[in-house]
Amino acid sequence: MTLQESRPRRPCRSNRLWIRLILRSPPGGGGGAVAESVAQSQSGLARKPSASDKAPTASIPGAEVGEPPPKPQESETPLQVFRAGSPSSKQIALTFDDGPHGTITPRILDMLRERQVKATFFVLGDRVKHYEWVLRQIVAEGHEIGNHAYSHRILKFMSNDLIDREIAETQSAIRNAIGYETRLFRPPYGDFRPDTRAVFRKYNLEVILWSVDTLDWKLRNRDKIFNVAINDTHNGSIILCHDIHRATLEAVPDILGSLIAKGYEFVTISQLCGLPPMRLASVSAPPPPPPQTP
Ligand code: NI
Repeated sequence: MTLQESRPRRPCRSNRLWIRLILRSPPGGGGGAVAESVAQSQSGLARKPSASDKAPTASIPGAEVGEPPPKPQESETPLQVFRAGSPSSKQIALTFDDGPHGTITPRILDMLRERQVKATFFVLGDRVKHYEWVLRQIVAEGHEIGNHAYSHRILKFMSNDLIDREIAETQSAIRNAIGYETRLFRPPYGDFRPDTRAVFRKYNLEVILWSVDTLDWKLRNRDKIFNVAINDTHNGSIILCHDIHRATLEAVPDILGSLIAKGYEFVTISQLCGLPPMRLASVSAPPPPPPQTP
């Protein structure tokens, strides 16, 4: 097997959702993590105006001038979307998408272990089933797993039923590999329709985006990837990389060394965003077999 991805895949890119920033104090500490509330989409699939968009006026029968707008229903509670942690802390999170890869991911794990760094891996369901042993190694070494959907298709062009299936099959693949599910989800390309939030809620998933895109999927150059990562990282940054590219593998040691020298502490997404640890599966699942040598 080569070190390169076996088939072309569009990388994650910044989402085009129109969002408004809110501050959230999530349970379990970590107050100050920056979360966003999805309000509307610019994708052409934007929601229709609803009665809650503006207060009733006297032109509406039965309404009084100045009457407060109706309270949103529970189902309209904004979805929390994490893009960064607290700007007042030197903690940052390194994340790897689109794996696991049979060769590159284990080598990245070696680099993380040597520097006692924890990271988070957003995996694809259709790859997990081929590399379950890699997932077990990721978890055994103290890193975190996130769901990155099954086939890396663009969610905003899919029905919620299909998205539900993508998420469910990936959760199942993760559970089969490590014995429990994840509560972290990163949509491919960072993009989704606001109405899909109901699917995320069904699986108790927190949506995790990023604040630093190393552009490793495009640059494919060790020095350029390093420069982007170092120049763009600040307190609370969530750094996006892909554990499927050779250039990323080559850049990781210098990225880790430089950011550690600057005093940053690498933590998992749950730690950075003040989220509880990944929940245990509620269904009976066989315990994962011991790690194997590839
Ligand atoms: Ni991706």
